[in-house]
Amino acid sequence: MPRTLDPELRRALAERVRYCHEMGIHDFYRRESAAPDQIPSSTFQSEPREEMAARKSVVARTIIEDNLVAITPNSELGVSDPAAALKLIREDLGDCTRCKLHQQGRKQIVFGVGNPHAELMFVGEGPGADEDAQGEPFVGRAGQLLNNMIKAMGLRREDVYIANIVKCRPPGNRTPEPDECGTCSPFLMRQIAAIKPKVLVALGATAAKNLLAMNSSLGDLRGRWFDFKPPASDPSWPGARLAVTYHPAYLLRDPRQKGETWKDLQMVMKYLGIEAPKKGAE
Ligand code: URA
Repeated sequence: MPRTLDPELRRALAERVRYCHEMGIHDFYRRESAAPDQIPSSTFQSEPREEMAARKSVVARTIIEDNLVAITPNSELGVSDPAAALKLIREDLGDCTRCKLHQQGRKQIVFGVGNPHAELMFVGEGPGADEDAQGEPFVGRAGQLLNNMIKAMGLRREDVYIANIVKCRPPGNRTPEPDECGTCSPFLMRQIAAIKPKVLVALGATAAKNLLAMNSSLGDLRGRWFDFKPPASDPSWPGARLAVTYHPAYLLRDPRQKGETWKDLQMVMKYLGIEAPKKGAE
């Protein structure tokens, strides 16, 4: 039977989580204890309304304190070197077992790759078989196309940073599920906050919808700018601009969209002041 939270407890819990996020705390471990709906209703029944409300909020607070244990502040907070910060985030991630993907055939975690000082960061959906085998994002066929797109922009793969919404391969390359994205995304947020790119490019609908928390179609999201700033990032960093474009794997299936993708990338290049290499130039 689904358990529903008392609205007061839900509000207090949401407030507490928001506060923790602002403090840069993203990891919560839930300890099973008496859920509010398991508190015998008789506890409050014979009390006057005000006393009952007061008691209830004390109980609510106690339950929240009891349930949120082992709160870890982000270890990279205050670390200004992005490479060092990324290393700390990777250490926090450990041999992650936070979501079910860890027991669905993943060979290894695919953390992210590239320049910790990158101005441009690409975010895909999740590792495929090649990425799972090599431990690096976008190394298969879609990765070759992404490399070509990066080259066409006048950049090298080593100039940018590449990561995914989820860091473990979903079985059979299925789309990552909301709970998997939700569990993994705090680590991606921390990577973005460490790198502080000028531009983020969301590759495909899964990346776009998760980063923007919007359920619009890719057609509606691409071709324009969004502002993006992860929670608990450096207050002096204005955040990134975010553009959405087609996923390279989709372009392999429907190359007709390459022209539209190039328009999106040109929008990014214009903002970053990058000129496309002249034809024939290496
Ligand atoms: N597709 C993705 O979304 N990410 C990868 O790393 C590889 C393929």
